[in-house]
Amino acid sequence: MRNRRAALAAIAGAASLALTLSACGQSSEGGSEDKATDASDATIGISMPTKSSERWIADGDNVVKNLEAKGFKTKLAFGEDEPDQQVSQIENMITQGVDALIVAAIDNKSLNNVLQQAKDADIPVISYDRLILGTENVDYYASFDNEKVGELQGSYIVEKLGLKDGSEKGPFNLELFAGSNDDNNTRYFFQGAMTVLQPYIDEGKLVVKSGQTELTQVTTLRWDGATAQRRMDDILTASYKSGRVDAVLSPYDGISIGIISALKSDGYGSASKPLPVVTGQDAEVASVKSIIAGEQSMTVYKDTRELAKVASNMVDAVLNDKKPETNDTKTYDNGAKVVPAYLLVPVSVDKANYQTVVVDSGYIKESDLK
Ligand code: GAL
Repeated sequence: MRNRRAALAAIAGAASLALTLSACGQSSEGGSEDKATDASDATIGISMPTKSSERWIADGDNVVKNLEAKGFKTKLAFGEDEPDQQVSQIENMITQGVDALIVAAIDNKSLNNVLQQAKDADIPVISYDRLILGTENVDYYASFDNEKVGELQGSYIVEKLGLKDGSEKGPFNLELFAGSNDDNNTRYFFQGAMTVLQPYIDEGKLVVKSGQTELTQVTTLRWDGATAQRRMDDILTASYKSGRVDAVLSPYDGISIGIISALKSDGYGSASKPLPVVTGQDAEVASVKSIIAGEQSMTVYKDTRELAKVASNMVDAVLNDKKPETNDTKTYDNGAKVVPAYLLVPVSVDKANYQTVVVDSGYIKESDLK
């Protein structure tokens, strides 16, 4: 039997069979004894990267909600974007005897030792949203189609600049931003976007005046908006004494907000100097408001309620010796193994469809956008 929870499930099954056979009435004490050996009595440790972004708070809440609905107990911790803090939080969870772990890594390479401890304690691990690298001790991966996220961002830029279908428009000036270099998703987002944008750069229809086109030149440590704002400031000073920025590839709403601040400080946002096309990701409230106000152009919506459901179902299956549902067993090689994944579909959102996609679906309350 794979783990304690499966063993508990067997005991619980036997206990309830015995109860059924003897058809005896259940005292409240008997009930609670029964619960103590119930399969649902396992505790799941959930390690999230930070509270500084509302999406991770929602992820944490949604995972807890889903697991508790299945009868699990939960322990939720946020690492505050400090890899060491996340490691010690996970260590604590292991010491406290959790039965499974769901981890959204801060630094995808800093968890190898602690995940070895998890393995030694027979605790299965689900990598949540961000793939943990360099260790065999990751059982499953729940995420979105990360390359597709980048494609949606790149395609939006191409479409809004009117570059599609061999149009003679342009050249337009584009600047590129990517996420944190210690997050595996970063390269997938960037790759996806560049698949769409690179041909136009090669043709000269899109020009990156800063010259910063390599992933290593455009990353933003810990996805920090202020860091992105400073980089945009520097680019504007160094490369835009003449000419204007027509589009900015931004991988994440927090970064988009920083970029837009830098642009506004430089006089963008008026009729004579409109803001460029600026992409984003996560459909955070501040960014959806910015989209409504005509500042940020788009975001990529990823329904974290669905992601939480997928991860919770994976835990439930693994702890019951069942095979979790996956839909990708090829893409996510973490350097030690290909991690079987379930990937959800991201959706492009702008002013035209935010109401249907994020409000009508109940993801964001209309009143929060006022
Ligand atoms: C990524 C995630 C994005 C965004 C970003 C910053 O790993 O996939 O959706 O949330 O982190 O938090």
